Formats: sequence, C-alpha cells, structure tokens
Amino acid sequence: MLFKSYQQLYENLRDFAVYEENGQVLGCVGLTIIWSDLSEVRSLAVDKVAHGRGIGRELTQWAIGEARRLHIRRIMSLTYEKKFFEKLGFVVVEKDSLPLKVWSDCVACPKRDDCDEIAMVYTLQDVPAVVGPIARPSPKGIRFPIIPED
Ligand SMILES: CC(C)(COP(=O)(O)OP(=O)(O)OC[C@H]1O[C@@H](n2cnc3c(N)ncnc32)[C@H](O)[C@@H]1OP(=O)(O)O)[C@@H](O)C(=O)NCCC(=O)NCCS
Repeated sequence: MLFKSYQQLYENLRDFAVYEENGQVLGCVGLTIIWSDLSEVRSLAVDKVAHGRGIGRELTQWAIGEARRLHIRRIMSLTYEKKFFEKLGFVVVEKDSLPLKVWSDCVACPKRDDCDEIAMVYTLQDVPAVVGPIARPSPKGIRFPIIPED
C-alpha cells in the first residue's frame, strides 16, 4: 500500500470506512471525489487472516453506495486486483480515459511514466451523467481541467 503521513490520514478521514469485528479492524476503504462524475476507491485492504470472507466485497460496495449517495456516476480504481474488481462489476479502461486522475494525483507519483496498475471503472447506470468542465491535453501530454468562465 502507498505511504500516507498522519496529516494525510487525518485530512481524508471522512472518506473512509472500516470493517470491524469484535472491536478489531479487519479492513478499510476510502472513496475520494475526483470530479463531478468521477470518484475513486482508495486504500482498499483486508487483513490477510480475513481474506476470502466477503469483507473486501462489502467494503467496495460501501464505497459504491457512497458514490450513489453523492450522485457521482463513475467510480474508478487503479489496481493489480483485476479479477476481484471484475467480480464487483468494474471494467478495464484506458488510463488516458481518466485524464483528471492523471492531473490530480499521478503527476506527483514516482511511477507516473511507468505505471503498471490497471485502471478500472464502475458506472452507476441509475445516476445521470452530468455535463461538467472538460480536461484538455497540454503540450506535454498531461491534461489540465479547464473551468469555463461565465
Ligand atoms: C483484494 C482484497 C481487498 C480482497 O478482499 P477479500 O475480502 O479477500 O475479498 P472477498 O472475500 O470480498 O472476495 C470477493 C470475491 O472476489 C474474489 N477474489 C478476491 N480476491 C481475489 C483475487 N486476488 N483474485 C481473484 N478473485 C478474487 C473472491 O473469490 C470472491 O469471489 P466470489 O464472490 O465468487 O466468492 C484483499 O485481497 C486485499 O486486501 N489485498 C491486498 C491489498 C490490495 O491489493 N488492495 C486493492 C487495492 S486497489
């Protein structure tokens, strides 16, 4: 899992849920808002002793429910666990189809030019698509969001 400072953990605490059993935390997940129609499942992890019990599924479904509550149509994941996310209805997409993600986070990541994670997306068909600001390619290929002026 990626390193997080305490400051980052506190700052993003409201994005998170944990799975607790008899006072013991067995798993966690976060749902972060990326854009008007895009959120991200982050920091999904289940304690090794509890793998295969449906906890990862339950945590991911919590994150999907949060996106629905917030009316965010698409939920993305950058992952190595393709089969797990496929079982939950995520589909593989080109990383380039997620330009805002590239802009917001990946720009600062040491793996950005050689990222081996798989980009996957779950679409909430019951949440209407919104027309929002678009992202535009920059000369270096990195896309920046353009906020239209009134
Ligand atoms: C990926 C992870 C969260 C799965 O958690 P889990 O609680 O063991 O998964 P679940 O028991 O909820 O599994 C749900 C389904 O996915 C399947 N599954 C789980 N992990 C799988 C894997 N690595 N490969 C294929 N299928 C997998 C299960 O068999 C189950 O299928 P079923 O519904 O047909 O029985 C867990 O392995 C983990 O914490 N891994 C390390 C951290 C990590 O890689 N996180 C993802 C970051 S994006």
